[in-house]
Amino acid sequence: MDKILVLDFGGQYNQLIARRVRSLNVYAEIKSFEGITPNEIKENNYKGIIFTGGPNSVYDPSSPHYSKDILDLNIPILGICYGDQLLAFMSGGKIVSAKNNSEYGKTELIIKEGTLFEGVPSNSVCWMSHTDYIKDVPEGFKITAITKSCPCAAMENVNRNLYGVQFHPEVTHTEYGMKILSNFIFKVCKCHADWKMDDFAKSSIEKYKVELKDKKVLLALSGGLDSSVVALLLHKAIGKNLICVFVDHGLLRKNEGDYVEQIFKNKFDVNLIRVNAKERFLAKLKGVTEPETKRKIIGKEFIEVFKQEAKKIGNIDVLSQGTIYPDVIESGKGKSAVIKSHHNVGGLPKDIGFKSIVEPLRDLFKDEVRAIGLELGLPEELVYRQPFPGPGLAVRIIGEITEDKIRIAQDSDYILREEFKKNGLDKVANQYFTVVTDTKSVGVMGDARTYGHTLAIRAVTTDDFMTATWTRVPFEILEHISSRITNEVKGVNRITYDITSKPPATVEWE
Ligand code: XMP
Repeated sequence: MDKILVLDFGGQYNQLIARRVRSLNVYAEIKSFEGITPNEIKENNYKGIIFTGGPNSVYDPSSPHYSKDILDLNIPILGICYGDQLLAFMSGGKIVSAKNNSEYGKTELIIKEGTLFEGVPSNSVCWMSHTDYIKDVPEGFKITAITKSCPCAAMENVNRNLYGVQFHPEVTHTEYGMKILSNFIFKVCKCHADWKMDDFAKSSIEKYKVELKDKKVLLALSGGLDSSVVALLLHKAIGKNLICVFVDHGLLRKNEGDYVEQIFKNKFDVNLIRVNAKERFLAKLKGVTEPETKRKIIGKEFIEVFKQEAKKIGNIDVLSQGTIYPDVIESGKGKSAVIKSHHNVGGLPKDIGFKSIVEPLRDLFKDEVRAIGLELGLPEELVYRQPFPGPGLAVRIIGEITEDKIRIAQDSDYILREEFKKNGLDKVANQYFTVVTDTKSVGVMGDARTYGHTLAIRAVTTDDFMTATWTRVPFEILEHISSRITNEVKGVNRITYDITSKPPATVEWE
C-alpha cells in the first residue's frame, strides 16, 4: 500500500490535507514534525511527503524547523503555505515579510507551467492566507505560478522532486485544489489509488492479531460511535481477549443501556461487562446543583468505577481507547478558556495497571470512522446517531438530579426523538434533546391546578458543534410534540423552545 506522510507544522488545515489525500484512495498519515526523524521516514517507505502550513515565519526563532536530511531522502515533497516557505528556506531561498500587504482569501492564481498544474487552466481561483512570501526561489527551482501580489505562488525543482505552493490546495475555495493535489500524488509520487476504508479495517485486524496476540486488552465502551468501532475491530482481531467495560451511570437515554448490551453481547458476542452504577452516581450527585461540580463528580466516579472493574479483571496488558484524530488535535490546542470540563471515555488514568495503550482510530476522521463502522456491520442507527455527551442526561437536568427528573428527561427525549424521526427532522437538526429545567410553574389540567416542571426543547443545526444555529422546526410539529409530552410525561405542564444559537449559548444547557 502506498503511503503519503503529512508532516505537521501546526497549520489549521492539516487534517484536511490528509483527508483529501485519502479521498484520492491513497493512505495519508499525519505526523508532527517533532514526532518522526528522517531515518524513520525512510524506513516507512513513504511515496511522498507534504509539509503543512503553520502559523509562524521561518525566521522566527520559535518557528518549527526540520532537518535538511529530509531533502536527500529521494522522496518527493510538496510544501504548502508555511511548508512552501520552509522548503524554500531549507533549500537556500529567501523569504520576506509583506507586513502591510498580507494576502488573505480568494485570489486569482496565474499559472505559468509545471507538473502540478497539468490540466489546470492558466487563470483560476486559489485560497491564500499568508504574510511572508518567497522573494528568491532557491537554486534549481523555478517559479510556476504567481498572483498579483505574490511573485512566487508556486515553485518546483523537477530534478529533485521538490514542489511548493503558497496557497492552500486542500480547501474547497481553491478551484483546482484537488487536481493539483492529485497531480502531486499520482504524477509526481506515482502512487497507486489502491487504498480503501475497508482496507484499513482489514489491515488493522491483521496487525492487531499479531501485535496483541495472547494479550488481555481492556476497553471502556460507551456505546458511542468511536468506542463501538474499536470494540468490533479488536473483537475481530483478538476475540475474547478483548474485555469491554460498559459503565452505565444511569444517565443514559431511555433503554440505551439495554440496547448497547444487546448489540455487543448478543449480536456480536463481544466479551462485555455492564456495570450498573446508577445508585453510586446518584448518591455522589445528591444535593449538587452547580454544573461544573456535577461534571467533575461524574468524570471522577466514572474513573473510580472503571478502575474497580479493571482491578477485578486483573493482569491487563493493554488499554484501548476510541481516540480519533480531532480529539488528538483538540487536546493539543494551547490554553483556551475552559467553558465546560468535557468528560468522555478517552483520557483514562495511567494507574490502572496496563502496560501500553492502543488507539486504532487515532489517525481517522469521524466520517472515516463511520465508514469502518458500517463495514464492520454496526447498525446504521448507531453509526449515524447524534452525539451524546459523556455525562449524559446530567447536563440536561438543571439543578439537583433526582430519579424523577431522570424519568422526565428520558421519557420526553424519547418522544422528541420519535417525532423528529417521523417528520424527517433528524436529517435537519444535528442534535436535539429535551432539558428538564429547574423551574416549576402553575398549570391547569382537567379542572385542577398543577404545579409542574418546565421543559425546554433544544434542537441545533451545525457542522462542527463549535458554532450552531437553532433549528427552524415548524410550529405544527412543535405543537404536536408539546401536546404529546405534556400528556404522556407525568410532572410536565409547560414546554418552551430554545431559540438561542451558539454563541452566545452552548448546545447543552450545562
Ligand atoms: P456545548 O454544550 O459545549 O456542546 O456547546 C458541544 C458538543 O459537545 C457535546 N458535549 C460533550 N461531549 N463529553 C462529551 O463527550 C462532554 O462532557 C460533553 N459536553 C458537551 C455536546 O453534546 C455537543 O455535541
